Amino acid sequence: MSIRIAPSLLSADFARLGDEARAVQDAGADLLHFDVMDNHYVPALTVGPLVCAALKPHARVPIDVHLMVKPVDSLICAFAEAGAGWISFHPEASEHVDRSLAFVRESGARAGLALNPATSLAWLDHVLERLDFVLLMSVNPGFGGQSFIDSALPKTRACRALLDRFEAETGRHIDLEIDGGVKPDNVAAIAGAGAEVFVAGSAVFSQGDYAAAIAAIRAGAASGAARRGGAAQ
Ligand code: DX5
Ligand code: ZN
Repeated sequence: MSIRIAPSLLSADFARLGDEARAVQDAGADLLHFDVMDNHYVPALTVGPLVCAALKPHARVPIDVHLMVKPVDSLICAFAEAGAGWISFHPEASEHVDRSLAFVRESGARAGLALNPATSLAWLDHVLERLDFVLLMSVNPGFGGQSFIDSALPKTRACRALLDRFEAETGRHIDLEIDGGVKPDNVAAIAGAGAEVFVAGSAVFSQGDYAAAIAAIRAGAASGAARRGGAAQ
């Protein structure tokens, strides 16, 4: 299980997005998390494919596009063309989840389903074959800087168990990404529950030293993952 840190550009200085993206990559980011909000599925309004395409030349790591939009299908295609490497969307925002996932896969991007804190893991039941990753929300979507919702921990554990069973049966690994309220002081517990990709917005961009912030999150995640590995043996 490899640990990946995905700083959320939502907390970056949007007037200097290219510089901010380069800075977090120099500081060790494994992905650039890119939050798309539409003032419909969520109250806030952020950025579209044009900004993703402008960011692409500054990205040495995959752009991880998290679509908080409704409907999703046309934007899946637009963001894939704009250079997204990973694309996730919320199942409640799609009329036909299986078809939307097919659009992501056909575009060549990695496909993910994003589940809100109160959204059931049952959405995964019939689509695991189509998934490259699951994004579990540990806050309600729409804003950065919120507190981690504790019920996301047992849910992460349950999701990891489900994905591990799928891997044992098929040999295919599905990544588990957690998004919302991730901090150096809670990331060990989150990794211990089985998450392996950690989105962090305010915990990175509120710090002067991005490298130190990312290193602190990575160290916490590694210790949690090691404890989990030990417990599994
Ligand atoms: C919230 C977004 C998150 C957000 C996380 O809707 O999906 O990616 O940027 O921000 P923090 O890490 O500050 O909770
Ligand atoms: Zn996000």
